[in-house]
Amino acid sequence: MQNFSRSHIKAHFDHAAPSYEEAAILQKVVAERVDERLDLTTIETQVILDAGSGTGLLTEKIIQRYPQAHCFALDLSESMLRQSKTRLQVPRCAKLGTPLNRFLQQCKLTKNFATKAGATPINADVNQLPFADNSVDLIVSNLMLQWCDDLDTVFAEFRRVLRPEGLIMFTSFGPDTLKELRQAWQTADPEHAHVNHFIDMHDVGDALMRAGFGQPVMDMELFTLTYDKPMGVLKDLKAIGATNANQDRKSGLMGKGKFTAMLNAYEALRVDGKVPATFEVVHGHAWAGQEVIKGPNRNKSGHIEISLEQFSKQTKQL
Ligand SMILES: C[S@@+](CC[C@H](N)C(=O)[O-])C[C@H]1O[C@@H](n2cnc3c(N)ncnc32)[C@H](O)[C@@H]1O
Repeated sequence: MQNFSRSHIKAHFDHAAPSYEEAAILQKVVAERVDERLDLTTIETQVILDAGSGTGLLTEKIIQRYPQAHCFALDLSESMLRQSKTRLQVPRCAKLGTPLNRFLQQCKLTKNFATKAGATPINADVNQLPFADNSVDLIVSNLMLQWCDDLDTVFAEFRRVLRPEGLIMFTSFGPDTLKELRQAWQTADPEHAHVNHFIDMHDVGDALMRAGFGQPVMDMELFTLTYDKPMGVLKDLKAIGATNANQDRKSGLMGKGKFTAMLNAYEALRVDGKVPATFEVVHGHAWAGQEVIKGPNRNKSGHIEISLEQFSKQTKQL
């Protein structure tokens, strides 16, 4: 498992917030894909959470798709949320009726939250959601999960706040993401990992099952962005806040020699005169099972720990 520094992630997204949208070409396309996939589902929604909403690329689509629902845009970075403000404060005619107010009280999120905005911004961490159990109908998340080093904790939180038969629909990055940059760094500085490791979709699916989600469906698609120079790739990654979040990353200044060696190794990967940057986008969705399906908690290796007393109670019920 990787060991991510949350303060590093927050600082980088805070810093990248003003430049994010201009460079987030792929994120925009993938947000559209998530929205299109929602066409294929039928779900009654009153409360929706966009987890890791950033500047609101997906939130905006969700507000349009489900105008009757109340949407919460949650992000670790206050600056990303601030950028989303103008986009998300679309005045709506929908009345903020009693069910929403009751929900807000339940979640202790009362003050000033019941505005007429299209979405309520929440500055929080997905590892600890400020929502009551079973209070959300739909969770969407676009390209945030790759920043989480403990999927079990995050999915357990998603499962806790989702009502039974609620839906989670998300995207993340898979292992082939930035494979050219990884290879170039491997040539220049084999002793250090300069590019995050991205989790395979099968492992993401397993984590969903461990958290008590049912019917997970996972698939992936590859995107290749092309650049004139390797520096173009690095500039874009910086502009969207996507830097190495691993606590074990090499700190301090890196020798100019290694950096130049990496650029040269990347140059050697040109295809048809262009420098490629591959992104493997993992799509997933799953349903929160009824409690009876969820069963007792599994530990990280997928095993269920159950006392003899609990076991005999359950077998008596069968
Ligand atoms: C690549 S951006 C994607 C933003 C947005 N979903 C989009 O489609 O443009 C990832 C976002 O996840 C947020 N994030 C990362 N880790 C988080 C965490 N533990 N809790 C909440 N947000 C997190 C970052 O602050 C950033 O805004």
